[in-house]
Amino acid sequence: MSAAVDIPVRRMNFEFPDDMDLVFIEDDPALSYFFVGAWMMLPYLEPYLIRTVQAAMAHIKDAETLEEMKRFCAQEGQHFRQHAKANEVVKRIHPSGPQLAALETEVEALFARWSREKPLRFNLAYAEGFESMTCAGARAQIEVGIFDDMKEPLRGLMFWHIMEEIEHRTVCFDAFEKVCGGYFYRTAMSLWFQNHYLKWCGKFAAAMIAADPETMARYDTPEAKARRDGRMRRYLACATPKRLATFLPWYDPRKVKLPTGFEPAREHFSALAASIQ
Ligand SMILES: [Fe+2]
Ligand SMILES: [Fe+2]
Repeated sequence: MSAAVDIPVRRMNFEFPDDMDLVFIEDDPALSYFFVGAWMMLPYLEPYLIRTVQAAMAHIKDAETLEEMKRFCAQEGQHFRQHAKANEVVKRIHPSGPQLAALETEVEALFARWSREKPLRFNLAYAEGFESMTCAGARAQIEVGIFDDMKEPLRGLMFWHIMEEIEHRTVCFDAFEKVCGGYFYRTAMSLWFQNHYLKWCGKFAAAMIAADPETMARYDTPEAKARRDGRMRRYLACATPKRLATFLPWYDPRKVKLPTGFEPAREHFSALAASIQ
């Protein structure tokens, strides 16, 4: 089976009721808000990645790479649309709604400006820096079983999304290598970009935490703290070497070890997508 066939485009239709629990990771409001906050960026960040990959397609000749890039864009297009639905609910039900909306406006302008003004090499290095980080994180999340400690519907949204991030892990790497290349540029810029992205995630999360002291206090117990600290230790022990490996000169997303839960997750979400067509 060619790699292109392995990037299926699933059309999902998640539902996000107003009473969904935003503390969707058991006993961990800060980590839950970190993810929910980070997702507020996706309706602007993922279209930026799509614009970047589409611009790179003009420089690519071989049909298989082009097909993979097309499928990457289609998957990312599904991601941000589903996340945008959740984000609307988050802004409505969480006391940080107005602050999140203000941050969103800033992020929208930033990524629109980068598409307009930055060279393709810069944008492709950002895309690959983002994709290599999310793939490393996704593999670790599945490996440590973090989804066992999550509540629906945000669990399903996140699991589907990160599983597809693993599926299309080679696309931005190949696009960067074929269009411009350069190990030192990619690595240096990836570090800068990941730091830039994580800082923005922190701003969204901080807004949610500051606006919701009651929820933070509710989980401020020794038992809850022990559970979330243990989970975070296990996650970092698994994720850190994977992320560091993406900076090595011989990093190749085709050669990374995939978690055993990856294939069952693919089958699960393919069946779910088929059931709603
Ligand atoms: Fe995505
Ligand atoms: Fe992606």
